[in-house]
Amino acid sequence: MRILFLGDVMGRTGRDTVCAILPRLREVLRIDLAVVNAENASHGFGLGPDMASNLLAAGADVLTLGNHAWDRKEIIPYIAQQPRLIRPLNFPPGTPGFGSVVVEVSAGRRALVLQAMGRLFMDPLDCPFRGTAELLSKYRLGGSVQAIVADIHAEASSEKMAYAHMFDGQVSFVVGTHTHCPTADAQVLPGGTAFQSDAGMCGDYDSVIGMIKDNAAMRFWRKMPSEKLGPAEGEATVCGVFVETNDATGHALRIEPVRVGGRLAPAMPEG
Ligand SMILES: [Fe+2]
Ligand SMILES: [Fe+2]
Repeated sequence: MRILFLGDVMGRTGRDTVCAILPRLREVLRIDLAVVNAENASHGFGLGPDMASNLLAAGADVLTLGNHAWDRKEIIPYIAQQPRLIRPLNFPPGTPGFGSVVVEVSAGRRALVLQAMGRLFMDPLDCPFRGTAELLSKYRLGGSVQAIVADIHAEASSEKMAYAHMFDGQVSFVVGTHTHCPTADAQVLPGGTAFQSDAGMCGDYDSVIGMIKDNAAMRFWRKMPSEKLGPAEGEATVCGVFVETNDATGHALRIEPVRVGGRLAPAMPEG
């Protein structure tokens, strides 16, 4: 299965660029499954229902969220009726929406997509490790589903690496989100799971993690309230990860970074 994951879509420039480029990326890379993190799509904070619909229409099969899941309240009724929009599975029981979804990629080929959120330097939540283990006990990789993609939304690379190693072999692809900086550690782990600590963002990199740099920087310079943070709106770099898996085993054959446009050095898988 050929899988594309795009990191946190940041503001208008991220949304517009992803909507414009995703159909072409799907075609060029012959993508079977595209997953997009959309927690920052609405001005950096949350996701509006119209934006979710546009990203799905542009070719995202599944959208994931994160700590900004509920910043736009209108998403709460939307997530209840759109199973392809998922939120971290380790929110407390009773939270709207679901932490995973099974999508039919093509006739007879199914993929499980899940999201978990880390707890190091983040708000307290239920255990992402135990929550994921419980979910995975219901599926057999290479059996009931041909691929499993896990978005681990977390601040600390240590927690993301620990998560990936914990589920190495049980999941096709573990990808980190939330830091908005793409990492250079893409690899297939010994058990067959593709892993990259962070996918990066789809946004303007002349910024502080996607936010207008002056206001964001002043928050560190002076411990005083600054101007309201807003997203930088220059040309976006679309940052993501491409993974190819074996349907029979569900394990990864290769993992390669994807970076298109904007300021970051480009990267595009071949073949
Ligand atoms: Fe984010
Ligand atoms: Fe986040």
